Amino acid sequence: MSTEYFTRRQDKLRTVLAEKNVDGMLVTNLTHIRYLCGFTGSSGSLLMGPDSCEFITDGRYVFQSRNEVKGANITIDSIPHLQVIKNNNFLSRGLKIGFAGECVSHQMFSDISTILPHVTWENIVGCVETLAMEKDYKEIKAIKTAVEITDTAFAEVFPMIKIGVEEQTISNQLSFLYRKYGDSDADAFAPIVGSGPHSAMPHARPTDRKIGPGELVVIDSGAKYAGYHADMTRTVATKGYSEKQKEIYHIVLEAQLKSIEGIKAGVSCKEIDTLARDHISGAGYGKYFDHGLGHSLGLEIHENPRFSKVSTDHLKSNYVMTVEPGIYLEDVGGVRIEDDIVVTDDSCIVLNKTSKDFTVIS
Ligand code: GLY
Ligand code: MN
Repeated sequence: MSTEYFTRRQDKLRTVLAEKNVDGMLVTNLTHIRYLCGFTGSSGSLLMGPDSCEFITDGRYVFQSRNEVKGANITIDSIPHLQVIKNNNFLSRGLKIGFAGECVSHQMFSDISTILPHVTWENIVGCVETLAMEKDYKEIKAIKTAVEITDTAFAEVFPMIKIGVEEQTISNQLSFLYRKYGDSDADAFAPIVGSGPHSAMPHARPTDRKIGPGELVVIDSGAKYAGYHADMTRTVATKGYSEKQKEIYHIVLEAQLKSIEGIKAGVSCKEIDTLARDHISGAGYGKYFDHGLGHSLGLEIHENPRFSKVSTDHLKSNYVMTVEPGIYLEDVGGVRIEDDIVVTDDSCIVLNKTSKDFTVIS
């Protein structure tokens, strides 16, 4: 990625900082640092001063930072980053500097104010995350690739999903394929594979439980590509399934399709959540859908905005969101169906191609 690619983001952040009446920002969250200057390592700080941008890391990242960091001067030192800022006089007396309160622990704030007491520190919550909500062309391309890998891996693993197979056999194979085709260091998150009673736990951890007959199996996983996440859930039934299991599958699918139909720029996230929630409640299962309808995706698996009952956000073009309603019944099992979508001016594009037909395996 070019230097301009990152300085454009830094300039946008500077505009926001000016609106908030601060002279700069100390960025400590690694995802935010990656977003603003391209660094992908595990330790770094970025200091956006009034007229300079300083990146600080240690000797493990000499070559990596030289290759990756754009639009910032690099300082390598093995002492704490706050001490580096102090020793190099990166912040002159009297400046007002912002930090993202949601990413700074009480201890870190105490260190900041003790080591750098000559500036005024101001909590400016959510600035970088808000900038990152609208995805650019390259980000959308990376998410599309992550979704394609997710579809491909699911298709490859599908023949393995059978009665008698352990949940963890499926999750391990999915992780293997995501790392083979996508980013080699990680999949988007640890896959969720829940069969039978486990399918009623929305975030079930895969176990050595073998898939049985007459069950629902929820599989929720995704690849990561160039740091960008995909997130897809499919639910299948096994031979001997009940009418109730089939019924809740179709209710969830209708809720998902209904909410997807309502998505376009300008609509409130709460309204989209309500479309799915009302459908599920109307069918009598409202209290069994007790999580948000979806979330944004990007360099993090869960980003703002959210499709939820309490969201105050409105959709914009090029937001990338998941749509994932579910019904979870302790004695019947659970169903969740999840796709990733890109918001457009008048609708949305569903990225996942994996079938959502009611599928029975044996
Ligand atoms: N796909 C899991 C989650 O979004 O929480
Ligand atoms: Mn999700």
